Amino acid sequence: MVRPSLNPEIQIVATAEELGLAAARQFVYRAREAIVEGNLFTVALSGGSTPKSMYSRLANDPSLNSQLSWHSVHFFWGDERHVPPDHPDSNYGMAYETMLSKLPVPPENVHRIKGEYQSAGRAAYEYDRGLRKFFGLKPGQAPRFDLVLLGMGADGHTASLFPGTKALREQKRLAVANWIQRFNAYRFTMTTPVLNHAAWVIFLVSGEEKAEMLSEVLYGEYQPERYPAQLIRPVNGRLLWLVDNGATRLLRVHPS
Ligand code: 6PG
Repeated sequence: MVRPSLNPEIQIVATAEELGLAAARQFVYRAREAIVEGNLFTVALSGGSTPKSMYSRLANDPSLNSQLSWHSVHFFWGDERHVPPDHPDSNYGMAYETMLSKLPVPPENVHRIKGEYQSAGRAAYEYDRGLRKFFGLKPGQAPRFDLVLLGMGADGHTASLFPGTKALREQKRLAVANWIQRFNAYRFTMTTPVLNHAAWVIFLVSGEEKAEMLSEVLYGEYQPERYPAQLIRPVNGRLLWLVDNGATRLLRVHPS
């Protein structure tokens, strides 16, 4: 399949710790940009382990967190597991423990996916409706997040857009419950119309175990069913890959 034009920005840092700092700085820059224009700052957080150092840095570094009016920041999630918020696998739970519980963010600014619902479909539907309401969308419109944070699995998935799953092709709904056979479970995920409508999308990728996939996603054949991270191409926004030395070990083109 012909790769759509993509000229990703790539910022390489040495370690996972530096990745967390660079990501926290990007968060503050993007938030100040949005808030200084008198607007809210809307961000969709990523789950997984990579963003932990970023969230912890934002929560514990006053030189960063003192720069923001947190009442203007609204948190959403790019994906979530089908578990309660206090479950160890909850992406909301991880963000709450490492960051939200330590910052003056009003509870009404935290828009989590209700993973505790028995019905995954109902939780996804409610989240979809919540996005439409919050952003004041007309039918057919997608929300424009100021910032979407994404991770990438070694299998090329991002958010909970896993290879060969139904959600990859969803073009109408903003969020779905995506059945993941290998987990024998649903995962909630924002869909590509939302992710690709953001002003900024920042991937955080760390570790040697991601090196082969990162090289494939960035410079290999365009096969989005196999490598869903390739689906992420902001229509009218910026795409930045924040990566560490381990993850860029195999990059054919060594970016400047
Ligand atoms: C999740 C994430 C997922 C994650 C990647 C990378 O719910 O797990 O949203 O897409 O970003 O799996 O995870 P790590 O950062 O743990 O490598």
